[in-house]
Amino acid sequence: MLAPQHPLDSLLSRQSAGALAEPAPSGADLDLILDAGLRAPDHGRLRPWRFVLIRGDARAAFGDCLAQAVKARDRQASQAQIDRPRAWALRTPLLIGLGTQIRPGHPVPEIEQLLSAGAAAMNMLNAIHMLGYGGMWVTGANTYDARVNAALGFQAPSRLVGFLAVGTPKTTTPAERPERRAHVVEWTGPHIP
Ligand SMILES: Cc1cc2nc3c(=O)[nH]c(=O)nc-3n(C[C@H](O)[C@H](O)[C@H](O)COP(=O)(O)O)c2cc1C
Repeated sequence: MLAPQHPLDSLLSRQSAGALAEPAPSGADLDLILDAGLRAPDHGRLRPWRFVLIRGDARAAFGDCLAQAVKARDRQASQAQIDRPRAWALRTPLLIGLGTQIRPGHPVPEIEQLLSAGAAAMNMLNAIHMLGYGGMWVTGANTYDARVNAALGFQAPSRLVGFLAVGTPKTTTPAERPERRAHVVEWTGPHIP
């Protein structure tokens, strides 16, 4: 008899998938993933999340945009450095640009608006895994490049916080996980120096 499943099994087995194949989630599955993102906690009900779907033929145009950004940042960039992000965009079944629409000067501090976007990303990564797909949150210099931000519709102070690369994992070797005791303490009162 199979051991009964714990409700958290799926959450606890999530891991990032660097090597992705088709298919990517689409239709009802993709809607569920996006809706999971929209359940992120959000101080002040600002709804700062913006998700930009990049898939199919649009990946070539986006890859060109990344390549141009590399060239513009570094005139000495090698052809291999220019081609790398283009190839990444082309081989990734689905890219989700994760953006935060920042409200400057709002009583809810900017860091909390950014953290809410991070929470949305995490909810989507969990949903991606629970539906049997794979995903990985990636950033790199292009995430912080004003040209790439503008191409995806983000003008400062609004900005990208990264991309979810999404598809079906090519491998599923379980990742090593940190020891709980290295990250958790029981607070019993202020430290007396
Ligand atoms: C904000 C953020 C940005 C990241 N950017 C990258 C990146 O650009 N490249 C990369 O290889 N991993 C990046 N990572 C790490 C991976 O998403 C992933 O967490 C890591 O490979 C560990 O895998 P795990 O999620 O299974 O623990 C980033 C993670 C976070 C939270």
